[in-house]
Amino acid sequence: MPPEMNFAERVTKRRISLGELREYLSTPAYVAEDVVASSGVVLLPRGTELAALVSSVEDVEKNLRRWGIFSIPIIFRNSINIQEMEGILKTAEANLMRVDPELARNTVEQVSNVYGRIVEGIIDPEDYANLANQGRTLAREVAQAPQVMLCLGRVRSWDEYTYVHSLNVALLGGFLASRLYPDQPDIAESLSVGGILHDLGKAHVPRAILNKPGPLTKEEFEIIKKHSEYGEELAIANGITDVRVLSVVRGHHERCNGEGYPDRFTKEQIRKEAKIAAVADVFDALTAKRVYKEPIDSRVAVSMMIDNTGTHFAPEVVRVLLMSIGLYPPGTAVELSDGSLGAVIGAKGKDLMRPQVLLQIDSMGRKVEGVKVVDLSEDPSLYVQRSLQDVGKLEAYFPSKQAL
Ligand SMILES: [Fe+2]
Repeated sequence: MPPEMNFAERVTKRRISLGELREYLSTPAYVAEDVVASSGVVLLPRGTELAALVSSVEDVEKNLRRWGIFSIPIIFRNSINIQEMEGILKTAEANLMRVDPELARNTVEQVSNVYGRIVEGIIDPEDYANLANQGRTLAREVAQAPQVMLCLGRVRSWDEYTYVHSLNVALLGGFLASRLYPDQPDIAESLSVGGILHDLGKAHVPRAILNKPGPLTKEEFEIIKKHSEYGEELAIANGITDVRVLSVVRGHHERCNGEGYPDRFTKEQIRKEAKIAAVADVFDALTAKRVYKEPIDSRVAVSMMIDNTGTHFAPEVVRVLLMSIGLYPPGTAVELSDGSLGAVIGAKGKDLMRPQVLLQIDSMGRKVEGVKVVDLSEDPSLYVQRSLQDVGKLEAYFPSKQAL
């Protein structure tokens, strides 16, 4: 048996009718309380395993009916193998993934190489031309993707944060733009190209500041803030002339309330491309593992984005982000209203509360064999009862072992 910590215990209590009893004989269920006849005789003691009643179920039913008892309280106690669930999620991700992993890897490599060349002081417009081409390819990929979040999770295995982040901003920014402006593919393209280039100005910021694990001093932060202007200068020096791309690079840290940088533009002054880039940039930064922080659960990241909508982010962009990933981002473990448990793998419908859920434990407490996906947007009888944040944190939500 794998180590204890890989399991999370779940307890469900429910009253079932005698008519349902037979269905539960093969489940990990027990009698929750003594079932007592009016004479005081215990007909079924608490803790009786329902599976043990298989051979005598007919007599048990008859006996209970005779005493006017038509339902019994039962309890399930079962454990979820977290590792197994993660495995299932990975398979689901692989099936749903739309961005070619080879393309993702190439992009990260290219950004990494160009970044290194900038650090060495090399200016070569061909570098930028190649990156821009890569951005255009990504834009085409993203335009067809029903969901982009799963791809973001996949490419997160590289360590070099800035390069992966550039790819993620290109993917998410392009995706959001293609949803916001479906008739203007040039905007999505400028987000994908701009996303790849947006942080290259960091190559002019000392590495010691970028990788500093603790909080930055005021002076250090002022130096980091220069990266968006450096980025624009580099892009122009390397032959990038498209003002939409340049506005992503220069403007991705602007905020709607005028408190961003470098220009302290307000909502009306910030170009739409920069507004989209700001959302993609922060959402990816929040959910990424960084030198100085662990990744934030994407559900928490979503609520942080909502909290800052209007002040930092443009509401129309956050709305599209929510529509795309739902309130339960892929990977969130959830309990459904019938007591079943599973992991969110995506959101097909428009209702943010109704994602697609890959079931692992059914409503009767049984482990689900094979891959069973429930699409809540198509099943009005079910809803998400609670989110269990993520698979790794399931333990915290379940009572301790001694339920019986
Ligand atoms: Fe940045």
